Amino acid sequence: MNLFLPKILRYESVSSTNNEVAALASRGAEEGTAVVADEQTAGRGRLQRTWASPKGAGLYFSILLRPKISPDRWSLITFMAALAVSDALQEACDLTTEIKWPNDLLAGERKICGILAEVIDTEAGRAVVLGIGINLTSDAYPSALVDKAISVGELARSHVEREEVLAALVRALSRRYVSLHEPEGTTRVIDDWMSRSSYGEGKFVRVTNGDEMLTGVTRGLEKDGALRLQVEGGGLKTIRAGDVVQVRAESK
Ligand code: BTN
Repeated sequence: MNLFLPKILRYESVSSTNNEVAALASRGAEEGTAVVADEQTAGRGRLQRTWASPKGAGLYFSILLRPKISPDRWSLITFMAALAVSDALQEACDLTTEIKWPNDLLAGERKICGILAEVIDTEAGRAVVLGIGINLTSDAYPSALVDKAISVGELARSHVEREEVLAALVRALSRRYVSLHEPEGTTRVIDDWMSRSSYGEGKFVRVTNGDEMLTGVTRGLEKDGALRLQVEGGGLKTIRAGDVVQVRAESK
């Protein structure tokens, strides 16, 4: 793959841009079909959560991908996407972000972007709907999350238009997606992710997944992006889903 050229469709209001792209895919849409909406009435997050999506407050974006990499590496799509958002926020807004495992973008330890990738079956084969939500203003997140969330508008030195962020995102995604398909592309994603995250190595974290809770120190990523965790008083565990929070030294 030498070139990847997304085709963007714009909507005022949709339930979820992921739903919209999935519906287009079931009607035969091509790879690269992307949807941007001013608002989502039923925005979705990871782990069955909702994603607040008020009108004009965020960038709500989804794109259809048909990756040609080995299916056991498709999990790296979200890692690739996190790197692309990080590139785009640096380029369009001069913002430096950190990636929290697996794919939350943080600025000053507060979440500025979330990523939701869903695998769907279509007539043309299995595909991925990659959804990205970027907080553009403080209206994007509920006021109860004021300590945990942040937006581009609160951090950027000058006003940044949604269209500038979108254009930078599409460029970065295209670059990163092409690169993922090159020889060594999957290893490069892991290496680049490790260089943009303090969560990959030596971080004392708590992991929750349903009823299970583990505490330990991170010890790098598996080839598919799973997190290796040295659990307290025990061996090495591999984490493939769940929430990871940093445990500060004082709350140990
Ligand atoms: C998360 O951090 O929980 C993931 C949030 C993903 C939100 C985006 S907004 C665009 C796309 N449409 C959705 O319904 N969700 C994703």
